Amino acid sequence: MPQKVLLYCDPGIDDSLAIIYALLNPEIELVAIVTSYGNVDQEQATQNVAYLLELADRKDVILIGGAKTPLSGEFTPYYPEIHGEQGLGPIKPPPTIKGELLNFDAIFKVIEEYGEELIIVDVGRATSLAISFNLAGEETMNTVKGFYLMGGAFLTPGNVTAGAEANFYGDPIAASIVLEKAKQGVLYPLNVTNEAIITPEMIDQIMQGENNPFQALVKAIFDYYFEAYQELVPGIEGSPLHDVMTLFAVTTPQAFKYVEKVVTVGLDEGNLRGVSIADFRPKPDEEGNKLTIALEVDYTSFSDDFVKVMSNSLSNQT
Ligand code: BDR
Ligand code: CA
Repeated sequence: MPQKVLLYCDPGIDDSLAIIYALLNPEIELVAIVTSYGNVDQEQATQNVAYLLELADRKDVILIGGAKTPLSGEFTPYYPEIHGEQGLGPIKPPPTIKGELLNFDAIFKVIEEYGEELIIVDVGRATSLAISFNLAGEETMNTVKGFYLMGGAFLTPGNVTAGAEANFYGDPIAASIVLEKAKQGVLYPLNVTNEAIITPEMIDQIMQGENNPFQALVKAIFDYYFEAYQELVPGIEGSPLHDVMTLFAVTTPQAFKYVEKVVTVGLDEGNLRGVSIADFRPKPDEEGNKLTIALEVDYTSFSDDFVKVMSNSLSNQT
């Protein structure tokens, strides 16, 4: 049986590739997607997801409108230089949403229907997930099997400031709420997602067959993203698909090495904003909600799986 997933995201190039990866993966059943601001604004994120679902002809995947700003209400910057003006690199998706965009309470219906069969994956700012906890309460939210969260950086540099990773930096208040309340929470921080390097050669391999309707799009958005990363990290051989790795973990959790720790996030406006802190001393303070943190990954297992899944045809789907 494929694993049912409720995905919170902000597409964005790596988010879009994660959605495509999930749609092409017979081991994942994407039941609903919550779209929020982050890499682009919420309306654009929604548009992008609607476009991907249309390409896949997947009208059954529920599309839900999420947050438009962080919990603080402040404006946070988008990143067109990395993700493109509209979040899909050079691609401009059609301007109208086909299909239905449901209100926020649809999230709770999905949780009620699937309960412990469901994994919640959040690869964007944590705002919509924190609001879900606030509205539904911990007891209801924690009826799901687990939470897989892309965010943070432990004892390693950030990617948006010296210490902070972009998802935690974008809404540190929301990240703190989620980290405090989610039971069975597993974090995929930059420690592992920076390793999710996909190279142009792998994309060429995926392009070899004409197996699915996404291939041309995958190449175009990858090329844009890779160019951006070459500016950011001179000499880099490919670009890290942070959000894809988090979905890969749904089917292949054994590819990672984990530790269990309480995690806090810096809320200050200074250079501690969004910085993730866990206690790595030999005798750590252990008061609070413990999370599982992935700190190492078997790269070959990830890259082989990516090329295989992205070369699938849609008919492999359930
Ligand atoms: C995360 O930040 C976002 O911009 C990416 O889509 C990813 O979710 C990486 O720090
Ligand atoms: Ca993202």
